[in-house]
Amino acid sequence: MSATSGGARRLTISDIAAMYADGQRIPVLTAYDYPTARIVDEAGIPMILVGDSLGQVMLGYETTVRVSMAEMLHHTRAVVRGTRRALVVGDMPFLTYGVSVEETMAHAGAFLQDGGAQAVKVEGGVRSARTVEALVKAGIPVMGHIGLTPQAIHQIGKVRVQGKTREAARALLADALAVQEAGAFSIVLELVPEQLAAAITERLRIPTIGIGAGAGCAGQVQVITDVLGLGEFVPRHARPYAHLRETIGEAVRSWAADVSAGTFPGEAESVRMDDAVLAEALGQGALDRAGSGSDIPSGGIPLDRDL
Ligand code: KIV
Repeated sequence: MSATSGGARRLTISDIAAMYADGQRIPVLTAYDYPTARIVDEAGIPMILVGDSLGQVMLGYETTVRVSMAEMLHHTRAVVRGTRRALVVGDMPFLTYGVSVEETMAHAGAFLQDGGAQAVKVEGGVRSARTVEALVKAGIPVMGHIGLTPQAIHQIGKVRVQGKTREAARALLADALAVQEAGAFSIVLELVPEQLAAAITERLRIPTIGIGAGAGCAGQVQVITDVLGLGEFVPRHARPYAHLRETIGEAVRSWAADVSAGTFPGEAESVRMDDAVLAEALGQGALDRAGSGSDIPSGGIPLDRDL
């Protein structure tokens, strides 16, 4: 058990396995910063992914390929500071794994030791199975990710549903089994036809976490900006539960209008001081008027006129 300060217990991969065994559907959200992580954690979401979608939704990159370890660690630390209970999964960036075991270990280790995460996610099925196995053997819990793997976008060509042909569906099934056998505790299925995702889910012992993969998965993951309606567009697989883009725009415009009109700040947002004290500070007190002057040094500042 990994207790966190404040008494709440941090969930572990055993808790996730227990939720799955109990037949509970597992909700997972991404988060990239401290205040959002706090809200998501307080809402009781058991698992938070610091996804490399960070690059697109927070940093303005075109793809996730540009995201660096330094950026991921910076945001992972913020999310971990904002959570007490959720299991935090750090998403390993492109080419920080699978090149050499030594580098993979160092990068994954950094997510746990420096970032404070409790698990990492790696993309790829059969091609990443050895990586997953090495990490799990080293004591690092791994979430797999198959189907659309955005880090391979330049190879895939464009964002599209995976596994629609007989060969592609079989390959996905093989990917899922390879990741499970390598020791992953869960596996993301991204943009997979719902029947295939359900068939994969039925054949695995570990929970599948779907995104654009239908309701037959053991859990669902969404990018927080899609759920909150904060992005410029909503992907087909997402449903906004708020419209924060409009809400924030309205708030910002209202505030600027109040500044222009001189109605912000008002009384409620301002502090006052004793007028007599101010008059004395400005050399306009009773003693000053009587001509005897103040015994408070002016520090060379001319008090008898505006500066
Ligand atoms: O980076 C990310 O947010 C992800 C999810 C879409 C699963 O990988």
